[in-house]
Amino acid sequence: MSNKDCEKAGRGRFIVFEGIDGSGKSSQMRELAKRLTKSGKKVITTAEPTGSAIGVFIRSVLGGEIRKTEEELAALFALDRIYHNKEIEKYLGEGIDVLCDRYYYSSLAYQGSETDIERIKKLNLDRSDIRVPDICIFVDVSTEVALQRILGRGNKIEIYETAEKLDRVRKRFFDVFEMMKTEGRKDAVCIVDNSGSFGVAAEKVFQSVEKIR
Ligand code: TYD
Repeated sequence: MSNKDCEKAGRGRFIVFEGIDGSGKSSQMRELAKRLTKSGKKVITTAEPTGSAIGVFIRSVLGGEIRKTEEELAALFALDRIYHNKEIEKYLGEGIDVLCDRYYYSSLAYQGSETDIERIKKLNLDRSDIRVPDICIFVDVSTEVALQRILGRGNKIEIYETAEKLDRVRKRFFDVFEMMKTEGRKDAVCIVDNSGSFGVAAEKVFQSVEKIR
């Protein structure tokens, strides 16, 4: 094994989960953490926005308590991500697999639809301080299934407005993945259908991750 291979084999894997609200991405992420731990791997789970001061500030913007433009919000997400990367790097270097709930695909899908996508790309892609994940698992469900799950949580929502929004965001994620393919980016994206059996989807997630290395 060459030095480079040795180093690679010892590093943890950086696995990102994306999906619309109600897709079950967080549950699938927790399930993968369980399966990896059972197979003897060291794993940590994390999320964006983070719990840092910037992450807390972002939540106040998302909650409507503080007003910022969509571009300002995108810059805040990128800054939160840069700080998050320092922590992620540390774990990966220690051989720990890092599972992250949302990453720059969310910025491209959400902020990219509200403002100039090229600016969002500049903030997040081809940067040495924002790592490209080893894999992005997109946990996919139809808008109808997502809505049923959201309603099942007992949340009161404006159903038509939300259905339209969920649909828009889901399509936007697919546009982002298509754009990355067209641009020949090294992002590996795996779309996993989570509308049926949770166990079948979980197995597919596990197999996709095991294929990385
Ligand atoms: P959160 O309550 O964590 O929701 P979820 O369970 O859906 O992940 O809120 C995160 C919100 O932040 C979510 O609506 C997506 C949004 N977001 C962006 O708009 N851009 C980003 O870069 C990230 C990471 C999240």
